[in-house]
Amino acid sequence: MSYENIIAEKKGNVGLITLNRPQALNALCDALIKDIGAALDDFESDENIRAIVITGSERAFAAGADIKEMADYDYMDVYKNDFITKGWTRVASCRKPTIAAVAGFALGGGCELAMMCDIMIAADTAKFGQPEITIGTIPGAGGTQRLTRAVGKAKAMEMCLTGRMMDAEEAERSGLVARIVPADSLLEEALKTAEKIASFSGPVSMKVKETVNKAYEMTLTEGLMFERREFHSTFALEDRAEGMKAFTEKRKADFKHR
Ligand code: CAA
Repeated sequence: MSYENIIAEKKGNVGLITLNRPQALNALCDALIKDIGAALDDFESDENIRAIVITGSERAFAAGADIKEMADYDYMDVYKNDFITKGWTRVASCRKPTIAAVAGFALGGGCELAMMCDIMIAADTAKFGQPEITIGTIPGAGGTQRLTRAVGKAKAMEMCLTGRMMDAEEAERSGLVARIVPADSLLEEALKTAEKIASFSGPVSMKVKETVNKAYEMTLTEGLMFERREFHSTFALEDRAEGMKAFTEKRKADFKHR
């Protein structure tokens, strides 16, 4: 399928979304968010796709929500349409594992979009920030919440209150990104990670994602119970039987994703 603001490709068992509005540093206009949603719908309904990478350009992952598009909205426009929630949460609700491969600016909604993904891999050129305060507003797609959980209150508060950007080194040190790689191998590394995930059982990786995400929302006791029940449920999967049998037979598992 072709889109106006993104490029969506299937690379083996991996779905790749490249944000493609270079003239606006991939600012996340409404049409672009709809394109991402449609591409994710397609990837989620394709049983051969087992991991998804979202990336931008060398200069910008995304420089935030489209300020020019938002500039004339009034309160009733954003309130009635639940602006930002609609469409954007499609990334966070994706059931298949997602990787954000970030080079250059990941600001405002760009940082928030990356934080909706399960793993963030950063190029050494990446810069993260929540500069909404500089344009008279606040983050509206998770910046105050996910950033605080990722890097802690001190840094999140400073970034949201001053608009200061964090470079890749600081982002890795603070727990925002999983790994830093040289900019020219960013996509290759992100795809390699996605291929690794896609080589395992699809239903099991979906269970891992769902269970790790519960750590955000549940008490430890509830989370441990959820984990144990999900662990038990893997014993209903053909892939669990195959994985353990392959180990005992000293061969590579042949997962059927069932
Ligand atoms: N929305 C719309 N257009 C944007 C944009 C955005 N968020 N960010 C950049 N652009 C456009 C610029 O207007 C410019 O377009 P023109 O050539 O037509 O003038 C083009 O992209 C290139 O940008 P710059 O010339 O500004 O490039 P630069 O290298 O000098 O600066 C930058 C780069 C520091 C990222 C700067 O563009 C910038 O500060 N962008 C805005 C960042 C921002 O405030 N993001 C938060 C948005 S609000 C939000 O995201 C709310 C939310 O929580 C969802």
